Parts: sequence; structure tokens; C-alpha cells
Amino acid sequence: MPHDPAFIIRKYEQKDRAAVREIACLTALMGEPSAVFFDDDEILADALTLYFTDHEPESCWVVECEKKVVGYLLGAVDAERSRKITAQKIVFALVMKALRRGTIFRWKNIRFFFHVLLSALKGELKAPVFLKDYPATLHINILKGYRGTGRGSALIQTALGYLRSKAVKGVHFATMSDQAGQFYSKLGFQLLFQGKRSYFRYFLGQDTPFYIYGMRLSG
Ligand SMILES: CC(C)(COP(=O)(O)OP(=O)(O)OC[C@H]1O[C@@H](n2cnc3c(N)ncnc32)[C@H](O)[C@@H]1OP(=O)(O)O)[C@@H](O)C(=O)NCCC(=O)NCCS
Repeated sequence: MPHDPAFIIRKYEQKDRAAVREIACLTALMGEPSAVFFDDDEILADALTLYFTDHEPESCWVVECEKKVVGYLLGAVDAERSRKITAQKIVFALVMKALRRGTIFRWKNIRFFFHVLLSALKGELKAPVFLKDYPATLHINILKGYRGTGRGSALIQTALGYLRSKAVKGVHFATMSDQAGQFYSKLGFQLLFQGKRSYFRYFLGQDTPFYIYGMRLSG
């Protein structure tokens, strides 16, 4: 694959917030836009990015191409801490905001929540916890049209360097994309867990794989 040198990786700044939120929605369905299954970008962007941009921006990076933000890596050095902050400071406010905006009463969203609930009842949302050996986590997304030319690898290497400089033991994350799995394997991540989720079946017509990848960094 050709390597495109015409991009820069830099730390996330407050001015990138809108672009990061937009990219999160444009890539939320295994790299495709979320509009197929969810109707309210404001709420979805909060759910996907708010912890990282507002509570741990120092662990986030963007990739810029001709002064346009075309991708990001959002990280958390301590995934357990991020889970607690999300539970204590984000979830309740987000539910209230969704109620105010009428998000949870929109037909497309009701269908999605219903299928997530079914999936939860079937036990599909359970997964092993890898916090002890892999305490950090990350999320990465590159806009369509800018993929396959080294940007994702450069973002990952930047984040791994940062985590190593902080002596973090390891990093783990989940993905539902088979193609992203090939990307992570090439970068040296190990597959830690494999499962499946059925909550997109009502429009994809099939179950979606669910993977957790990890990499030990030190210790
Ligand atoms: C997955 C993603 C972050 C990879 O970033 P990228 O800039 O496209 O990847 P790179 O160009 O750095 O590729 C690195 C290696 O992975 C491989 N790779 C990347 N995308 C791949 C794909 N879709 N299928 C197979 N291999 C892939 C490349 O072949 C490359 O190997 P090479 O260096 O030997 O040629 C990006 O494609 C993306 O955002 N995809 C859509 C959203 C997504 O799936 N996000 C991950 C959710 S956890």
C-alpha cells in the first residue's frame, strides 16, 4: 500500500472537537455512517467521544491532511477510570439531554435500543475484562477516502509511544470490524476475545463479529 507523507499527526486541541464528533458519526457503523441506525448525531457523538475530548484530551491525537482533520485516535490511559467518570459524570446528563431532545422517542432510535436490549438479554454484551494486563484503551477512526495510506498506523504508533512513556502495562480495545482486525494484527496486536453481536442484524441481515484486541507494553 502506498505511504502518503502529506499528513501530520498532532495532539488533539479543543478546536478539533467538532471535527472529531463529526468523524465519529460518519464512521460509527464499522467505518460507515451511523445514520442507518441512529437519528441524532449530537447524542451519538457525546456517547462516543465526550469522555475523551472533555475528560482526557491529553491522550488524544488527530491526523490532519491539508489542514483538515481526517481522523483521530481517542485514548484513555486507565480504562477503569474512564468507565467510572463516564458512569458518574456523563451517563445521567446524556440520558437527560436525550429526553429533552426527544432522541429516545424517535422511531429509528427506538428500533436500535430495542435490538441492543434483545442482544443484552441474550448475554451477547458480556465480555471478559482485560484491565489488569491491558489497562489502557483507545478508539481510532479515519474518514473514508483517507484510509489505507499509513495514517492509522502512524496514529497507533504515536499513541503506543505515549503509553510506553507513561509506563502503562498494556492497551486493549474492542472492534466489530473484520477489516480493522487485519489492520490491528499487522500492527502486532493480539486477539484476546472473539464473540458476536446481533443488534445490527435487523438491517444488515447478519450478526456482527465482536473482537477485543490487546498489546502488552511493559511490566
Ligand atoms: C482501521 C483504520 C483505522 C486503519 O487505518 P488506515 O490509515 O486505513 O490503515 P493504514 O494505511 O495505516 O494500514 C496499515 C496496515 O493495515 C492494513 N489495513 C488497513 N486497513 C485495512 C483493511 N480495511 N483491510 C485489510 N488490511 C487493512 C494495510 O494493508 C496496512 O498494511 P501495509 O502497511 O502492510 O500495507 C481505518 O481504515 C479506519 O478508520 N477504518 C474504518 C473505521 C474502523 O474500522 N475503525 C476501527 C474501529 S475500532
